[in-house]
Amino acid sequence: MKKLWAGRFNNTTDDIVESYTESISYDYRLWQYDIKGSIAHARMLGRQKIIKKSEADRIVAALREIAAEISSGEFQFRKEHEDIHMNIEARLTEKIGPLGGKLHTARSRNDQVALDTRLYLREETESIINLLSRFKKSLVKLAEKNIDAVLPGYTHLQRAQPVLFAHHLLAYYEMADRDAERFQDALQRINVMPLGAAALAGTSFPIDRHYVAKQLGFPDVSKNSIDTVSDRDFVIEFLSACSVLMMHLSRLSEEIILWASGEFGFIELPDAFATGSSIMPQKKNPDVAELTRGKTGRVYGNLFALLTVMKGLPLAYNRDMQEDKEALFDSVDTVKAALDLMGRMLQKLKINRHRMKEAALGGFTTATDFADYLTASGMPFRQAHEAAGKLVAYCLKQHGAGNKNGKKLEDLSLEELALFAGGVTQDVYDWLSVEGSAARRKSFGGTAKELVIARLKELKGKKR
Ligand code: ARG
Repeated sequence: MKKLWAGRFNNTTDDIVESYTESISYDYRLWQYDIKGSIAHARMLGRQKIIKKSEADRIVAALREIAAEISSGEFQFRKEHEDIHMNIEARLTEKIGPLGGKLHTARSRNDQVALDTRLYLREETESIINLLSRFKKSLVKLAEKNIDAVLPGYTHLQRAQPVLFAHHLLAYYEMADRDAERFQDALQRINVMPLGAAALAGTSFPIDRHYVAKQLGFPDVSKNSIDTVSDRDFVIEFLSACSVLMMHLSRLSEEIILWASGEFGFIELPDAFATGSSIMPQKKNPDVAELTRGKTGRVYGNLFALLTVMKGLPLAYNRDMQEDKEALFDSVDTVKAALDLMGRMLQKLKINRHRMKEAALGGFTTATDFADYLTASGMPFRQAHEAAGKLVAYCLKQHGAGNKNGKKLEDLSLEELALFAGGVTQDVYDWLSVEGSAARRKSFGGTAKELVIARLKELKGKKR
């Protein structure tokens, strides 16, 4: 028996549940793909005579009108209709009556949402690949502009050996290149047509899935209806590629932050990409780089959120899977913005070659070269290493004028050098200079200028 308060109680409950379960507040973003997919589906239903051709035409025309309503902003998304699929279907029925109800023949929201997500992600993956190629171009440009700059390369954040700044930048090029490959590879698994799996078992209607795939430009059709509606691997792979990419951007950010500090002073940030402090007038903060480093956390988090959502789900579709979207959208937005901004910032960085070179000189970064010099004239490397080490210790003890940290290797006289090894002649100074050190590293992939220039040329010839 209907209780007196039942109406009110139910309404209240429904309202809370509605708010808890709705996804329209974020999956409205899929509207274009939802309509595209529905048009392809309606055409297929007409072609297969599951509905009349004229009915399919009317549905398609109404769906196009709905697309226009949404893009002009006049469409009202309603929480009562839960998600993007039902919002559009409800409007369709509002427009063309019960015929609207035929669109969902041989389809379920389970395969529909998989289709929308794949269409969306296919496009976003392409756009990230394009942004990556723009980012790579920024690296190449900055490297070319500063082909003569030498800075200390670091290991353990201790000055190690002189490297060309351009070579250092091209290390990030390689990372970005691998990132693009990862997205390209993920695209193969994203680009699979799921519609027709229906709820999970397929459908009794004589549908033509390959025709739907052809209309939507999918090279592949999914093979197992149960897997089709329970699979989010393609989202996880994408989020994983995003995480690796953000890890790279975060490392670059960290270097930019260090380089922009007074202690390093290797670069100056463009004013447009830095902010001041509200209390300390002297400050110019590297916020874009810091936020990129920070946002890496949420991109990792999104990957873990979805891995965790999926790990305990029995086949096939479960409503838990609705939780994939906010994580996915957030990673897409974050990665696109980070790539774009980091690329733009690179183009405007000012490089302080003098400070870079000073740092390389001050850090005994050519000690290996001294050892190599001795080794080249026959001394066993271990012995040469020992001699070079003693030489560094000697330098540290000498407090020459204006040289707070002792002497630099290239300041030493031949007589001083001779204290550590016999047979040292004038040509040693070329080995002790930071430019000479870098120039001599001609092994394939090394930092010698001619190799870096050749690599830059190779990269400029590449399309993406
Ligand atoms: N909004 C849902 C999602 O994002 C669509 C699929 C709903 N399917 C269902 N059987 N309730 O996953």
